[in-house]
Amino acid sequence: MVAVKIFVLLAFLTLVYCKVARRTEQDIQNVEAYIDSKKGDINQRYRLHYHVAAPVGWINDPNGFTYYKSEFHLFYQYYPYDSVWGPMHWGHVASRDLVHWKYLPTALVPEKEQCFSGSAVVDGDTMILMYTGHINLDAEPWANETQYIAYSDDGITFHKYEGNPVISSAPNGVPDFRDPKAWKHGDHYYVVIGSKTDDNRGHVLLYRSTDMKNWEYLNIIAESKGDSYMYECPDFFELDGKFVLLMSPQGMESQGDRFKNLHQTGYIIGSFSYDTFEFIPEVDFQEIDYGHDFYAAQTTEAFGKRVLVGWFNMWEQPHPEAEDGWAGAMTLVRELKLVGDRITMQPLDAMTGLRDEVKMIGVLQPQQELRFGKTAELIVAGDLSQKIELQLEGSDGGEKAWIRWEPEVGKVVVDRGSDDIRQVQWSPIGMDTWRIFLDASSIELFCGEGEVVFSSRLFPEGGWVVTNTGPQFINVQAYSLGRSVPW
Ligand code: FRU
Repeated sequence: MVAVKIFVLLAFLTLVYCKVARRTEQDIQNVEAYIDSKKGDINQRYRLHYHVAAPVGWINDPNGFTYYKSEFHLFYQYYPYDSVWGPMHWGHVASRDLVHWKYLPTALVPEKEQCFSGSAVVDGDTMILMYTGHINLDAEPWANETQYIAYSDDGITFHKYEGNPVISSAPNGVPDFRDPKAWKHGDHYYVVIGSKTDDNRGHVLLYRSTDMKNWEYLNIIAESKGDSYMYECPDFFELDGKFVLLMSPQGMESQGDRFKNLHQTGYIIGSFSYDTFEFIPEVDFQEIDYGHDFYAAQTTEAFGKRVLVGWFNMWEQPHPEAEDGWAGAMTLVRELKLVGDRITMQPLDAMTGLRDEVKMIGVLQPQQELRFGKTAELIVAGDLSQKIELQLEGSDGGEKAWIRWEPEVGKVVVDRGSDDIRQVQWSPIGMDTWRIFLDASSIELFCGEGEVVFSSRLFPEGGWVVTNTGPQFINVQAYSLGRSVPW
């Protein structure tokens, strides 16, 4: 009798599981059919040619950045049905070189939980995603956040684990408990998760597990002294002999030229022991990118190096492309290095393969202009004892910006007009050139060896026109770039 009961129960559970699996497969087919039906309607004017963006709809944070079965996989927070934030899915792209990308089907769809940010690890032939299941509630605390996992054996179809959630609350029970970044070290998986203290100070929690399902809480590895109310999107990795805690604190007040965006992404350098689970900071929090639009960055290892990608936007800012049926993008993937007490970011070597037509190798005189299509790369060298200024504008109008070197104060400035300025002190640690990447609605400026980087969105109309508006002759190498993401 007992055996029969167990059999009936198992049969029932299998049926329920199969139904749920079929339902999520159906949900994914519906999303893909929706995307296919809408992507032809997108206005192409601001569409990026070599940055990942959603085929239609809204994207934010990069998620699950990993290498699996000969390809790099990158997921992103995704709401396909409108170009504003909505119930979170995970969109998905893959690449062999981190420059050329293809779309894959949406990986996760929300059910009772929205699929908030998270990461991926690889265990043999299986890719395991770990993400935050965010559930809205009708009364305070308004939401509940716990950690979920999902499996894939082909890197395309993902099955949520039936035993979710695998971590069902923060140690202090606060509802803000999200963005797990997992990795493997020795026989254990580790994960860092963003959260906060009872009195609203951001902190980062560390856990470990042998199977990604059962987690042991270890320690708080960083805690705000009161300058941030929540640490989002932590990432923790070794870089050139040190440990780095990368994270996105919410609520830091601006101080002079620092922390000008609504929220920041930056890092703390320190030392860490897998015996005591203590992270000892050695260099205080610093921003990793000084542009207007950069957040929630995530890293992975690629070709033996540490590489990073960020969300190429900021919360609560206008997203002019939303009118066209899409919103949000990823930055270029950058290689990280530790140099002294800071991290440098440089474009990947493979980016030179995107160079298409040489537009100039020579001297650009004051007031001389260079015309491009929607894409450009410029390498600029000038005399740093004098002002340098480049005006960036659209051949048919639209938004304008200036990139400037101000020798009296030793600052690089990215100026979008009307006082919408980001600036920072720059003392070159080696090379003293600028490398500028322009895409249809974006600017990335890498100064010197990547010790100062700005990522900002800009919405010019038509092609790019770059004019030397400074007083001196400057040396310029300029190229147009090819396409590396699908239309
Ligand atoms: C960061 C963030 C994450 C969260 C996700 C939701 O931009 O707020 O903390 O998981 O976005 O889309």
